[in-house]
Amino acid sequence: MNAPTLSELVDGIAADGHGLVMLMGKGGVGKTTLAAAIAVELAHRGLPVHLTTSDPAAHLTETLNGALDNLTVSRIDPHAETERYRQHVLETKGAKLDAQGRALLEEDLRSPCTEEIAVFQAFSRIIREAGKKFVVMDTAPTGHTLLLLDATGAYHREVERQMSSGLHYLTPMMQLQDPKRTKVLLVTLAETTPVLEAANLQVDLRRAGIEPWAWIINNSVALAQPHSPLLRQRALNELDKIASVADGYSQRYAVVPLLKKEPVGIDCLLELSGYGVD
Ligand SMILES: Nc1ncnc2c1ncn2[C@@H]1O[C@H](COP(=O)(O)OP(=O)(O)OP(=O)(O)O)[C@@H](O)[C@H]1O
Ligand SMILES: [Mg+2]
Repeated sequence: MNAPTLSELVDGIAADGHGLVMLMGKGGVGKTTLAAAIAVELAHRGLPVHLTTSDPAAHLTETLNGALDNLTVSRIDPHAETERYRQHVLETKGAKLDAQGRALLEEDLRSPCTEEIAVFQAFSRIIREAGKKFVVMDTAPTGHTLLLLDATGAYHREVERQMSSGLHYLTPMMQLQDPKRTKVLLVTLAETTPVLEAANLQVDLRRAGIEPWAWIINNSVALAQPHSPLLRQRALNELDKIASVADGYSQRYAVVPLLKKEPVGIDCLLELSGYGVD
């Protein structure tokens, strides 16, 4: 099979010199793994990269900390972000209040919205950083991503409302909508349901004014060139799905092979992006 590799996709990302790369898709399709693979591939080419994940299973990303000179790794921990935000509000707004006012404020800060605001603030910080270097961001599964986009959209409208003379400031939403600044990669598998789910996510993103830049089809058996009759049949079925993505959903895409073992560590991650695969 002569499918475009992840490495070829990274050529297009690297060409812009910096920017936000966001991986989205349903649970377990390989978002965290591929975010790491893209970050490693960019860093390997000598570009400065920050890989950030919200995945609590940090075994993959932690192994990369300090592994390459120009690669930094961090994790957005919703609980830690919420605590940080809560402390900040209590120290600023809270300092001016009497005991009763502070009690009310503390009550307010216990609402679930607080976590949403805190995670959104962490996200905004990351977006700003992408003006100078590559930031590769691994998002939580689809549902959370859409919540984050809602918060981002609501913030944008609020800023717009407050600045009646027009927007002089780039909101995170505007940054996400600009393909020069942000590349959204939809991760899926070469199977019917995952392709439909990615297509639905693409519709939701377009509704928010965000055009996904490319699709990544992970865990390809066809690329692994199997010998067993069962797997060869699966590989054939995959080809149809890959063609349907290329024809119907995204002209820009990459196919990533299923590896024999969990891709952890620099060498395995480079293998995913096309080194050593014909
Ligand atoms: N190409 C691949 N070959 C072999 N194993 C893979 C490949 N891609 C991912 N995996 C493995 O599949 C599992 C799920 O991958 P990963 O954690 O990256 O998915 P995710 O989309 O981030 O999941 P979640 O939605 O839970 O955050 C991991 O154990 C990972 O090592
Ligand atoms: Mg993940």
